[in-house]
Amino acid sequence: MKTARFPNLSTELLGWYDQNARTLPWRISPAESQKGVVGEPYHIWLSEVMLQQTTVVTVVDYFEKFLKIWPDIEKMAQANEDEVLKAWAGLGYYSRARNLKKCADIVVRDHGGRFPQNLEELRQLPGIGDYTAAAIAAIAFRQTVPVVDGNIERIISRLDCIDIPLPKSKPLIRDIMKGLVPSRQPGDFVQAMMDIGATICTPRNPDCHICPLRNWCKAADTGEPSNWPKKLPKKVKPERVGAAFVAIADDGAILLEKRAKKGLLAGMSQVPTTGWTARLDGETGVRAAPFVADFVADWRECGTIRHTFTHFHLTLHVFRADMVARSQTNGWWSRDVENEALPTVFRKVIEKALEEGNMHEM
Ligand code: ADE
Repeated sequence: MKTARFPNLSTELLGWYDQNARTLPWRISPAESQKGVVGEPYHIWLSEVMLQQTTVVTVVDYFEKFLKIWPDIEKMAQANEDEVLKAWAGLGYYSRARNLKKCADIVVRDHGGRFPQNLEELRQLPGIGDYTAAAIAAIAFRQTVPVVDGNIERIISRLDCIDIPLPKSKPLIRDIMKGLVPSRQPGDFVQAMMDIGATICTPRNPDCHICPLRNWCKAADTGEPSNWPKKLPKKVKPERVGAAFVAIADDGAILLEKRAKKGLLAGMSQVPTTGWTARLDGETGVRAAPFVADFVADWRECGTIRHTFTHFHLTLHVFRADMVARSQTNGWWSRDVENEALPTVFRKVIEKALEEGNMHEM
């Protein structure tokens, strides 16, 4: 029998979801789902890609903005990559935005604008890995497939007190999830797990006394549920340093340029910057400036900003020059940096340069 190890767990969880599901703009309500209504695959795909590395709270606004600009996948396929990158700016992990656009193109060109329902075919689309393929199959197409994200890994590790550390325990967790997802409302079941992971079975201080899974949970029985999941020690991220240069024209326009097509933050915009080096004696001073600022105001250091990428921490020394002439020819002067495809690290740089006190006295 399917849920032999956790009898009646799925019924209990679906009952809880019926009463407690979070209302999210890409989600249909449990009441509708029980009547057989399913969500729009385009909405589910878009939200799942956005949610891959970003919290629900941040995603809600971006999701609504994207739907306003591109109400359906055909519209997104007609956009150009730059427009998608601009709308994505601030969400981070920009390869997701480039893959989003590629995926829209392929679904329109090869699948007549409809997402394939088959897991394998979904898996082949750009930006869709095992997790996202399974999430779309379960939520948009009501397939009984195991969906496992970080929250679900935590819940299952606790349910069964799995002592094998992550990521080694992933295949076991997937197997257990496979046995749990019910054929009735599989999408609601996985979303209920996600909601519990986000609001009850949190990494620290889980709220076991309100958890619908309490009766099945071995970790809660120990009194120390946050001892699971076991994890291998994290690698320490290396430190890198560099300098970034904010040139400001007399009308407030800021000098921007485009990053290389390949590599970190490929194709996004930036203010001029040195390379980011792991050498602590790297070029972080004004000598590295891309040009000599004009005589009215030389480059002046405004302080530093910190930003963490997947593989390193970065400290950037921020310089500002208030320009009289727009002599610089590389790049372009923008008076609307809000709407440029600027990654968060460069938004921090510009904010630092614009902080009160960093203005030049003329
Ligand atoms: N995180 C990822 N996908 C989600 C979803 N569909 N609902 C809630 N949280 C999520």
